[in-house]
Amino acid sequence: MTRIAPSILNADFSRLAEQIQALEAGGADWIHLDIMDGHFVPNLTFGPMVVKAIRRITALPLDVHLMISRADEFLAPFLDAGADHLTVHVEAVPHLWRTLENIRTLGAKPGVTLNPATSVSLLEPVLPLADLILIMSVEPGFGGQRFLPVACERIAQLKEWRAERGLEYLIEVDGGVDLDTAAAAVAAGADVLVIGQAIFHQADVTAAVRQLRAVLPK
Ligand code: DX5
Ligand code: ZN
Repeated sequence: MTRIAPSILNADFSRLAEQIQALEAGGADWIHLDIMDGHFVPNLTFGPMVVKAIRRITALPLDVHLMISRADEFLAPFLDAGADHLTVHVEAVPHLWRTLENIRTLGAKPGVTLNPATSVSLLEPVLPLADLILIMSVEPGFGGQRFLPVACERIAQLKEWRAERGLEYLIEVDGGVDLDTAAAAVAAGADVLVIGQAIFHQADVTAAVRQLRAVLPK
């Protein structure tokens, strides 16, 4: 089943609890939380305190995407705050093997991701260590950008490696996913769709998630 992981980046933060409940009511599978530091990406969002507050209001898995330079220093605070999946960028972490092992040891599912212009071959050595491979389909930093079709080739490559090597990671795609691009990403092999604007720009968030669910493969 294709999982829907709404990104709250473009939610109304003055009504965050209500918005998360609306996502749940629509059948969201995970909540995707975008952590930005104004250094690795040119935008700032929120930190462990907000993750902790969200943890109190939902039982859905919290899928935390770290777009921060010194990710290693913040693994424990995000895990203590209640992250279920913790995804780091290959561009931000010098000792990826160590970092992914640390995430697992601390008790979360390790994820790894890369920017659209970074070679996917950099992931090869660590594929067995990750539960989640996140393919960025936009340059990270902002919601509402256009889906880069090159992501589909990268998803297909990850799917091929998974089959060849007998691995079990999930393939997630993030950025510019809407009703149209979701179909292409799923056809290429995406298991998890991160969706921000295509949900939060609708007046009815619950209906937007239901509508996506209705067109995705079961
Ligand atoms: C981009 C973030 C995404 C983004 C997705 O840096 O990682 O999660 O918020 O939002 P949309 O679906 O609007 O591209
Ligand atoms: Zn993200």
